[in-house]
Amino acid sequence: MGARRVVVLDGTFDGWRDWARALLRDGVAAEDVEFVDVLRSAPGGEGGLFGATPEPVAAPSAPPFGVPKAFARRAPTVACFRGADVWAVLYRLVARIASGERDVLDDPLDPDVVRFQRMEKDVRRDAHKMHAFVRFRRIENEAARNGERFVAWYRPSHLIVEREASFFRNRFPSMDWSILTPDASCHWDGAEVRITPGVDRDAAPDGDELEELWCAYYASIFNPARVMLSAMKAEMPAKFWDTMPETAQIPDLLAAVPARLEEMARSSRRLAESAAPFVPAGASLQELRSALPDCEGCELHRLGGRPLLGEGPADASVAIVGEQPGDMEERAGRPFVGPAGEVLDEALAAAGLPRERVYLTNAVKHFRHEVRVEPEGRGKRRIHKRPSVQHASRCQPWLDAEMERVQPSALVLLGVSAGRSVFGPTHRSPAPGDAPQPRSSRYARATWSTFHPAAILRARDAAAAERMRGHLVATLQATTEAVSEPGREHA
Ligand code: URA
Repeated sequence: MGARRVVVLDGTFDGWRDWARALLRDGVAAEDVEFVDVLRSAPGGEGGLFGATPEPVAAPSAPPFGVPKAFARRAPTVACFRGADVWAVLYRLVARIASGERDVLDDPLDPDVVRFQRMEKDVRRDAHKMHAFVRFRRIENEAARNGERFVAWYRPSHLIVEREASFFRNRFPSMDWSILTPDASCHWDGAEVRITPGVDRDAAPDGDELEELWCAYYASIFNPARVMLSAMKAEMPAKFWDTMPETAQIPDLLAAVPARLEEMARSSRRLAESAAPFVPAGASLQELRSALPDCEGCELHRLGGRPLLGEGPADASVAIVGEQPGDMEERAGRPFVGPAGEVLDEALAAAGLPRERVYLTNAVKHFRHEVRVEPEGRGKRRIHKRPSVQHASRCQPWLDAEMERVQPSALVLLGVSAGRSVFGPTHRSPAPGDAPQPRSSRYARATWSTFHPAAILRARDAAAAERMRGHLVATLQATTEAVSEPGREHA
């Protein structure tokens, strides 16, 4: 162990990155450095080394170092986490990357990676809440365009104001607005986003003009999900309620619309049991992909892995649905890249269907597994567990959203889980000798069900494997014929 260094950061990702470059250049080991920052250390409080807010120190200049793309993309999100350990975790990871562990983020059981993922997930969830619960009030403001500015006061759990400013800019480009928070504030005037210091709640405007406007709007788009107390508490901690004028009118809305009460009860059950509240309406595939890690629609999210959306062109005519990502898929962030993927690739090639023209996804987005500790200190292994019908049905809103975007003409369901998620729990696999038969489904006029490549790998003997493989290839071939002969596709 070398001499201990204490580095005082300004609380920003850029500030930490500059220091990380300098420390790595000097060969400072992770255990020899302590990071303190002005935003995360309360004066004299926990994490406050000095009994008063310390002054950040700029890093000496040092050359950049290369990190894997996934780290570069994800670390700035993690850096918004409010916990005092964030910089130490990031530094441990970059130090390991610099010492040759470039794939460190691919090991979902590594304690640093577990913490990294947890922090990332918390930040993304906080961002999701901010998108949903910031409420603007209109104030007269001569300096603003149209003489008015929309102002909101909000208290995020993490340091996300700067990160989320672009979301609000894209959503409300034509109005001037400010979002004030205790950490930092952001403002938009049609030309640029400005970040200024945080403010106390008193600085929020108290006028009721916007309130009335918002309440009228809210009544017109009244969303029962917002009035379910359990959903409300889960989604919207009580600390937000005083900033939400529409909560006051909930009793009237409920009393006035009894039919909606029933619908509310029904949707309350649905909401509690499905991914639906986590799937953004009308989102692109890319937006779905960004929203997916926040999903808590079933308990599989507690396994801590990275859920996986499909891949492939948004205008693919053929879509293929598998069961769930496996260990290798989850690590790679791509479907069908392990042994089952090899079988599928061979079948696609035999059917003359290029993989890159197909939209490839799974019925369940998380990898359901159990962790097995190998004897004699040989580490841990994640063992595949088939997802239940309930997992598939809770995950269905993601598949619905993907299929709504892609609108395939031909759809292939690989194996029983995919088949059941589309045709219901009584669906059975075809017999290997059957000719592939398309049926109409809610996703595509021509939908086939066939064998899962993993079932081919597990077949009891070579002859059975061959028959199942033959069925898979014939099914894939049938899709190419169906999409090149539009008349047949609609038969
Ligand atoms: N099996 C599946 O069903 N999907 C994958 O992505 C990989 C293996």
